[in-house]
Amino acid sequence: MKAEHHLHIHYTIYQNLTELPEKAAHLMKEAIAARQKAYAPYSHFKVGAAVLLKNGHIFIGSNQENAAYPSGLCAERVAIYQASTQYPDEEIEMIAISGTAEIPTAHPVSPCGSCRQSLSEYETKQQKLIPVYFMGAEGNIIQTDSIKDLLPFLFDGSLM
Ligand code: THU
Repeated sequence: MKAEHHLHIHYTIYQNLTELPEKAAHLMKEAIAARQKAYAPYSHFKVGAAVLLKNGHIFIGSNQENAAYPSGLCAERVAIYQASTQYPDEEIEMIAISGTAEIPTAHPVSPCGSCRQSLSEYETKQQKLIPVYFMGAEGNIIQTDSIKDLLPFLFDGSLM
């Protein structure tokens, strides 16, 4: 017999940076600063990401584009790969992302599918949820408690 299911995700919308918990606000400011230094001469869409580790270290990333388009990399992966390179065994506490086109957007910019998959790898690895905060250039910030909330039915390699 077929069975229909529903998936529910829980997320929080904060009105602005001042409403965020202190650590998250600080991390988002790092993401915003990283965004401003993005190398995005082709899309003119700049993204910044910041990863906070349990040991207190913060790793930032910005999107790095390339004339051969697919050779570029998103901000989130630049940040998380750097974090995991420097501290492969350290727990990731949270991630903040800010993205915008040249005209500042207030629309929260969520990580792309490839980044969700990449980020989820570390959540699976550490077996502890990683909250994700994301925003545009200004305005609301959305927070999910887990990367998995953004990627239902993710591929986690457990079947390999
Ligand atoms: N981009 C990111 O850095 N992160 C995302 O999650 C979405 C897209 C970048 C890639 C490219 O440089 C530009 O934004 C436009 O797609």
